[in-house]
Amino acid sequence: MSTLSGKIAVVIGGHGGIGGAIAERFAAEGATVYATSRRGDEWAVELGAGKLRARHVDAADVTALASFFEAVSSEAGRVDVLVVNAGISEFATLDDVREDHFDRTFDLNVRALLFAAQAATAIMPDGGSIVLVGSIADAIGTQGYGVYGATKAAVRSFARTWANELAPRNIRVNVVAPGPTDTAMMAAASEEARKALTKLIPLGRMGRADEVASAALFLASGQSSFITGAELPVDGGMAQV
Ligand SMILES: NC(=O)c1ccc[n+]([C@@H]2O[C@H](COP(=O)([O-])OP(=O)(O)OC[C@H]3O[C@@H](n4cnc5c(N)ncnc54)[C@H](OP(=O)(O)O)[C@@H]3O)[C@@H](O)[C@H]2O)c1
Repeated sequence: MSTLSGKIAVVIGGHGGIGGAIAERFAAEGATVYATSRRGDEWAVELGAGKLRARHVDAADVTALASFFEAVSSEAGRVDVLVVNAGISEFATLDDVREDHFDRTFDLNVRALLFAAQAATAIMPDGGSIVLVGSIADAIGTQGYGVYGATKAAVRSFARTWANELAPRNIRVNVVAPGPTDTAMMAAASEEARKALTKLIPLGRMGRADEVASAALFLASGQSSFITGAELPVDGGMAQV
């Protein structure tokens, strides 16, 4: 039997990049996956042992998120697995930070993540799993990414609190923390910045989205049944050694 056979999963920010890889892997492992994006039409495909259903939702819009979870509830009846992946990362040193940069980053990476988790847990049966996509930026002080790092530290903190609050329902909450990963987010960096970053990674290369998806699958599934409140880095050793 596949790892997520019969499960209903939601991936907030589930098209392309890390979220797209997670949504596809979960469907291949037997889940019915509702994947949100601001891009493209709504569609549904059978994928491996499961199903992938694209839903048009702006992950930063808390009202739209609430309507989306209501629709999932009436269609599927529950959410067994939640992944919150949507996130932005913009460069701004302390001198350069403006209110709109701060608000945009916290609104998506923290505020929307919180209300997505709240809406999902309202329809999550006992034994569910929540995987938050954080970053190793929560623990290292990369110049120009202070606001981004602070949002990911907030995500790490939420996971600890929610793991405690939801433990009586046997709902586990964990963070998968990528290091530099080859996606559109990283493609936005200059070649020089990418080379400099790669030099900091002991394994000598950037990660792939499917490698983050493997870690997310582990945390979402019963394979990690005694792990909660934890952060799993997927960073080629960058923040570990
Ligand atoms: N790539 C890395 O090196 C790296 C490292 C550490 C952590 N991460 C984290 O991994 C997650 C995914 O990143 P990625 O590398 O896969 O980047 P990506 O390809 O740029 O994907 C970004 C995701 O965030 C959503 N998003 C972006 N801007 C948005 C906005 N203004 N409003 C609503 N949704 C928005 C996108 O949704 P749409 O489909 O609607 O555009 C998409 O799902 C993020 O949380 C990021 O912080 C990435």
